[in-house]
Amino acid sequence: MAADKKGNGKRRLRSREWFDAPGDPTMAALYLERYMNFGLTLAELHSGRPIIGIAQTGSDLSPCNRHHIQLAERVRDGIRDAGGIPIEFPVHPIQETGKRPTAALDRNLAYLGLVECLYGYFFDGVVLTTGCDKTTPAMIMGAATVNIPAIVLSGGPMLDGHFAGGLAGSGTIVWYARQELAAGRIDLQKFLEWVASSAPSVGHCNTMGTALSMNSMAEALGMSLPGCAAIPGPYRERGQIAYETGKRIVDMVWEDLKPSDILTRKAFENAIVAASALGASTNCPPHVNAIARHIGVKLDNQDWDHIGYDIPLLVNCMPAGKYLGEAFHRAGGVPSVMAELLRHKKIHGDALTVTGKTMAENVKNAAPADGDVIKAYDKPMLNQAGFAVLSGNLFDSAIMKTSVISPEFRKKYLERPGDKDAFEGTAIVFEGPEDYHHRINDPKLPIDENSILFIRNTGPVGYPGAAEVVNMLPPDRLVKGGVLLLPCVGDGRQSGTSASPSILNASPEAAVGGGLALLKTGDRVRVDIGKRTANIMIGDAELEKRRAAWKPDIKESQTPWQELQRKFVGQLATGACLDFAVDFQRVAETKGIP
Ligand code: FES
Ligand code: MG
Repeated sequence: MAADKKGNGKRRLRSREWFDAPGDPTMAALYLERYMNFGLTLAELHSGRPIIGIAQTGSDLSPCNRHHIQLAERVRDGIRDAGGIPIEFPVHPIQETGKRPTAALDRNLAYLGLVECLYGYFFDGVVLTTGCDKTTPAMIMGAATVNIPAIVLSGGPMLDGHFAGGLAGSGTIVWYARQELAAGRIDLQKFLEWVASSAPSVGHCNTMGTALSMNSMAEALGMSLPGCAAIPGPYRERGQIAYETGKRIVDMVWEDLKPSDILTRKAFENAIVAASALGASTNCPPHVNAIARHIGVKLDNQDWDHIGYDIPLLVNCMPAGKYLGEAFHRAGGVPSVMAELLRHKKIHGDALTVTGKTMAENVKNAAPADGDVIKAYDKPMLNQAGFAVLSGNLFDSAIMKTSVISPEFRKKYLERPGDKDAFEGTAIVFEGPEDYHHRINDPKLPIDENSILFIRNTGPVGYPGAAEVVNMLPPDRLVKGGVLLLPCVGDGRQSGTSASPSILNASPEAAVGGGLALLKTGDRVRVDIGKRTANIMIGDAELEKRRAAWKPDIKESQTPWQELQRKFVGQLATGACLDFAVDFQRVAETKGIP
């Protein structure tokens, strides 16, 4: 139907099928009566004004998103001022730090719940409140499947944390404090103080971890208002953009501007380029690939390597750099990064966004790169900051975040004469995080500085959801001797706040018979980042013998949802989606009105 701004000519909206139910006025009365019981009037519900959902991810259980409860008031004001009617509803909570066995398990559950709400109720459009890691992909995936007008409102990072005269970044401080604790330089009391100092206010992680990365991805995809991702949670601009977001979604409904108009191949290519420039989390490829699958755009890990690998690192934020969210926001946030990328013709300026304008129009007046927090394209923090995608007899696909490879790691493992960009080592294999913690300091374990640490059974099926455990600290005796990291490989994930140069998200995972399952402690392994390969150095015959002897060993599910997810979840390389769900596309149109 033709889009007509401001409702002139009054396109009939989806919500009318409930509140004006033409075929059956008695049914309309039943739909109507309960929505008046908290004070909405019949005139409002009959007015034909857009009904706008506010998908609320905040609660006491989800501290990273909790301030959305207050922000929703400003969203409501914006919706009302633009002529809409707000209806706020809860979505399944996801808290990265609190949920066991993994928060990632709940991304697909929150997705399913949102799809049911958006499809099964009377919404004409929706504001997606996002923040903590998985809340952002879950919300955009759900909006993609239903495909009604949708806009992201990020909650924003916490204020910068401080400790002992320095900046304390969420998560990043934990990895550092663990090293200091292992080396005996701090006690547990200090450890707790340091870690808590990184969380000084409402908001999500203040580092360029998965939360800030994924909210930046939402903005780079064109799904939020310009500048939305980086405004710290407590800043006044956060409340202001909540209001503007509420106003904008009402117009989007009248313009019939849907996720499928915005989430195009060009938008995804922009997001991949932005991810490299941001030094974004290794969780971005699976989440962004999942969003692409649900909107029906072809995108895979190879795209991340081909499109993103050569893009330099521009953003000087932890874990790849030194600043946190407040500095990133003040320097111009995502719009400044996009403008810099656009100036160098690295992104598609003509990609449409929720503003109804293109990315180029949105960032036209963005602050120029300041050269410190946001680097100029030709004076970057680092060249080639994208993800390298490896394959071999260990896995079909795994990723390595090159922006966090430290100079020490490069020197030790990648810049040896005659063996450039490659390294070999002896495998030490752990069967999951419990096994790692149990055995890592066992003096009988033959670990030295030429070891490569492997962890398996930690993928979407094995450790349901996929655990963030691949970055493993070497044993205390090595740390005390100055070996702060060893190469790590695994079928789990890694926190976006970690600066560990691990090879992770290995697909297929060991639990479903991927090559990692066949590895034994003591095997020689060769990783060649230049050639994008990772192999156990044994013959095919031996490999086949091991494969014939392999038996799946999947732990018992502890909840019904774990069992269901295990049955239907795909691998990290393809977004760890519920594979059957991907067949349901744009259901608000293709399946009609329920
Ligand atoms: Fe929620 Fe990091 S723990 S954003
Ligand atoms: Mg995380």
